Amino acid sequence: MRPRRFMPGNPLRGRIRVPGDKSISHRALMFSALAVGESTITGLLEGEDVLATAAALRAMGAQVERTGEGAWRVRGVGVGGLLQPESALDMGNSGTSTRLLMGLVSSHAITTSFVGDASLSKRPMGRITDPLGQMGAEFTASPGGTLPLMVRGISPAVPITYRLPVASAQVKSAVLLAGLNTPGITTVIEPVPTRDHTERMLTGFGADLWVEENNDERVIRLRGEAELNPQQIDVPGDPSSAAFFMVAALVVPGSEIVIENVGLNPTRAGLVEVLRQMGGQIEELDRRDVGGEPVADLKVTHSPLKGIEVDPALAPSMIDEFPVLFVAATQAEGRTVTSGLDELRVKESDRLSAMAAALTGAGARIEEREDGLVIDGSGGDFLRGSANSRTKTHLDHRIAMSMAVAGLCSQDGVEVDDTRPIATSFPNFEALLDGLAE
Ligand code: S3P
Repeated sequence: MRPRRFMPGNPLRGRIRVPGDKSISHRALMFSALAVGESTITGLLEGEDVLATAAALRAMGAQVERTGEGAWRVRGVGVGGLLQPESALDMGNSGTSTRLLMGLVSSHAITTSFVGDASLSKRPMGRITDPLGQMGAEFTASPGGTLPLMVRGISPAVPITYRLPVASAQVKSAVLLAGLNTPGITTVIEPVPTRDHTERMLTGFGADLWVEENNDERVIRLRGEAELNPQQIDVPGDPSSAAFFMVAALVVPGSEIVIENVGLNPTRAGLVEVLRQMGGQIEELDRRDVGGEPVADLKVTHSPLKGIEVDPALAPSMIDEFPVLFVAATQAEGRTVTSGLDELRVKESDRLSAMAAALTGAGARIEEREDGLVIDGSGGDFLRGSANSRTKTHLDHRIAMSMAVAGLCSQDGVEVDDTRPIATSFPNFEALLDGLAE
């Protein structure tokens, strides 16, 4: 455990650049590993989650090398060319590595085990073993359908048409990745759109993938036995990491910061919209394209916030940002109501109950409902803080970083029981935060 007390302090001022997007970084490594030839990646997130993906791809035969800060070179094995790893694949804390790689392994003649940490070993895997089982792979999971889990992949697998029962980009991607090495056409139907990095990037790598809108549903089709061409990928900054700094600058009086190079893919940018609805001043400077994704520098200025009812339809486009939105809501004037967030209960922790407990412990007024939190804000008065108690982060990086931000808008500071999980997605978070408040 590495505890730390986050204290209120100076206004946040200056310019920062957050690390590369986690979702895009995982996919950049995976698709490069399946291309024929050498790809280069810049701006890769070098967090533990992405490093777990890199190690697994190496264990299955791809050459994956770091050539400089955020700079990587990958020599791919070609679709269908992954090899049997010699030992279990250790996924650490990373749900994305687990679910996407299980998709890949499922359509190869590979039998292997997936293991992970205590948090990952509680997370549901039935949502991917169901469709991947329909494609012909076999699974032996731990009781409850969790890791440790053994996969027996099959080649050739059977193409399926799968309608997502939960709004999950990981499930969508697992099926499409299995479809890459499956003869015929694999189809995924999304009743609710989720992040579309897999579709954008696979198209960029030359896969035959097309998307149609049908009765308000997105229908994604992929022709299997694809040949992927190596690419040069520049990974944009992660909006989910930028989120902590957006909220910190909005709630700490006197703050004004610029966060450079933030990815603003519409399937990811829900938080910016919601914070603006709450009165947050967030300006987009120099909108441009990086690696096929819209990007801008965000200028964020301290603003009085007001409580709102958050449209549940926005949930998938800000699913990882709710913990820190809850912190913003504690500082707003009036009530913020969130709903439709059942998925938050199966993230790295149960984020509804973890944030309700953490913020209540810091003096906020929170009602926990089955599918969301209701927060009565203070109108800008700082939280009391938690002088005598430690916030439990439950091995969840986003709870740790959200409560760090809560510490900045508290009187007594907020003690986080363990900051180590932050390294899974944002290794230099504390250094950037400390630098802005100097
Ligand atoms: C991710 C999808 C989301 C998100 C996760 C990354 C991805 O998970 O929470 O951090 O890269 O596809 P779900 O698919 O479970 O919603």
